Formats: sequence, structure tokens, C-alpha cells
Amino acid sequence: MFKRLKNCHNTEDFRLLAKQRLPGPVFHYIDGAADDEITYRRNTQAFDDCDLIPNVLAGVESIDMSTTLMGHKMAMPLFLSPTALQRLFHHEGERAVAATADKFNTYFGISSLATVSIEEIGQHYSAPKMFQLYVHKDKGLTQNMIDRCKAAKFDALSLTVDTIVGGNRERDLRSGFTSPMKLTAKSLMSFASHPAWAMNYLFGEKFELSQLKDHVEEGTNVTLSVADYFNTMLDQSMNWQTAEEIRRQWDGHFCLKGIMSVSDAVRAADIGATAIMVSNHGGRQLDGGRAPFDQLAEIVDAVGDRVEVICDGGIKRGSHILKALSVGAKACSGGRLYLYALAGAGQPGVERAIGLLHNEIERGMKLMGCKSIADLNRDNLRYR
Ligand code: LAC
Repeated sequence: MFKRLKNCHNTEDFRLLAKQRLPGPVFHYIDGAADDEITYRRNTQAFDDCDLIPNVLAGVESIDMSTTLMGHKMAMPLFLSPTALQRLFHHEGERAVAATADKFNTYFGISSLATVSIEEIGQHYSAPKMFQLYVHKDKGLTQNMIDRCKAAKFDALSLTVDTIVGGNRERDLRSGFTSPMKLTAKSLMSFASHPAWAMNYLFGEKFELSQLKDHVEEGTNVTLSVADYFNTMLDQSMNWQTAEEIRRQWDGHFCLKGIMSVSDAVRAADIGATAIMVSNHGGRQLDGGRAPFDQLAEIVDAVGDRVEVICDGGIKRGSHILKALSVGAKACSGGRLYLYALAGAGQPGVERAIGLLHNEIERGMKLMGCKSIADLNRDNLRYR
């Protein structure tokens, strides 16, 4: 059935809308993950292994779903994780995502591989901003991004720690997906069958990786896959000392994105991280790795009193967020949950996707008899 925005009621609907609008290689870049995509699927399935137990008669005519994360009170306990290449998915790209975060008063992130500049984002949007740093071999480039984020008054720096090499994304290998898109007979065919997307990509604002283009050709003028970008451009010698040094230099809210083990969570707290994103990069890196929600309780028990724990990955429903908060996450975040909507319909799409999740959280809290996030706790959960 042909999808329209007004018929999209959940993440899967937005996924189908994106599939309809995007050339195959672009859709599969967003939708795909590593190897057999077992971890990717488990990220969502993990939420089904436990059930919520509601309390009733709690007088829930007005509830408060705000939470405080990295120095900011957010109106809802969900934020928009940084993701790469957004103007490739829809010409509004990061601008649509930032504007939606403004509207819902929640954090959003932009990637080192973003397609709008740090300066533009810093200047035009008031929502709390996170910058997702990839440590490059080119030390000047890494330093330059940190300095630009400081100057643009970003609220948090999030160091990516789970992309030391590129994941094996077989959908990208099959489709030949690269940044920028290669113009081959095959890709031009897929452009021709998605004319609205293709017109914008070919004739609209030129595609660029805004933070990188003045330092490296790769990704903006020289095509390569994201896995090859990670393999050739990022610094594989990055270690805890690097992380600590960046934390010291940044001297603001500092988050490690991609922590999965308790021992690493403890080390993150030891080097002074404000927050950690319990994340496996949406299943796009190590397949066979554990899901964030499966791993959440161990991590919260170990460091929940020292760092803010964010559950990132696999979230498709408000009830998933309620479960993660009940375990003890301070907030949740996701990429695909807004990217499909961005690809499908630009800013109105992202607004609708986040609005629906906002309403699911609100409705869920009322049905759970919870007036505030603090009312969600492990007594509300049973594992099967
Ligand atoms: C990804 C990176 C770029 O493709 O976040 O997973």
C-alpha cells in the first residue's frame, strides 16, 4: 500500500515511508546493520523479554515526563541521537532534526559526519546540542572539531568509542552505497525511480560533510563506504588516555557513546564522564554483541550513581522507553526512530515521529500510574 505521512502511526510505518521515497542503497544504509543483523534485531526484541506492571488509581490528570540530562532539563526522556549524512536522506537533513528537538525541548546530536556545519547548528537552534566526535588520524581535524564546538557553545561532547574499525555491513557491500553516492548506471536507475529524492540530491544544495570537507576529500569529493571511512580515516590507537585527554580539553559535559561492559562504564566514570550511551551503534558494528537493554541493569547497578546512563538503540515504542527508565536509565535515545521519518517526509515527518513517541510515553505513564519519571522503578517490571 502506498504510504503517506498521515498514515504513519509508528516507527515501522515511517520505515515503509522511507523505503518508498529513497533509492535502495540509501534506504539500506539506514536500515541495515552488521553481518547477520542479529544484534540489530535483538536491540528491539530485548524489550519484549520483560513486562510492565501498572499501578492504578494514581490521579494522573497531569504528569511530568521531564528529566535532566547533562545539565539540561528536557521536556521528555527521549532524545535524537547523532547520526551521519542526514542531507543525503532528505534535503532538510540536520536542520529538520534540530528544529524538532527545539520544538520538543530535548537534546539532539550532530555527527562529525554531519552535512550541516557546527556553526549553523550552534547559531540557529536553542535545544541542547551534542556533538558526536570521531577521533581521526588527522589530529588537527579532531582538534578543529572540538574547538569549533566550543566556539559554537555545544552543550555536550560525545566521543564515539565503538567504531575503531568499520562494521561489516553487507547490505552496503551489495548495494555499493558510498558517501557521496557514486553515479553509476545502477545508481542512476534507482535515482530515476525516486525522482523527488533525486531532484534534490542532484540539483539542490551540494552534498558535503561540513566538518570534514576542508580537511579531507573523502566522503565529500572522494567516494567511499562508511566502513572504509572508519577503517582508513579514524585513529585505531585511540585508548582511555585519549578519552581522558579529550575530556580534559573539552571541559564540559562529556559522554562516551558505545559503552557496553560494566568495566568500561566504571572507567568512564573514573575519567570524569558525565554520561554514557549504552549502545552498540544500532547493531551496525559488532554483530553478536549484547543489546543495550539487556545490559542496562548491570551498568546502572555499577555506575548509576556516578554517571548518567542513556539507553540507546532498538527503541521503537514509548513502552520501550518506560522499560529502560524503570531499569534506571536517565534517558533514552535513538537514530532510526527519527531517520526513517526524516527520509520519508523531512521536518513534518520527524515532528510526527517524535510527537507520537512523546504521546506514547505520556499515555504509557498514565496507564502505569506514574506521575513522574521517578515513579518508574524496577518494581514495575518483571522478566519472563
Ligand atoms: C554509521 C555511522 C556513520 O553509519 O554512524 O553507523
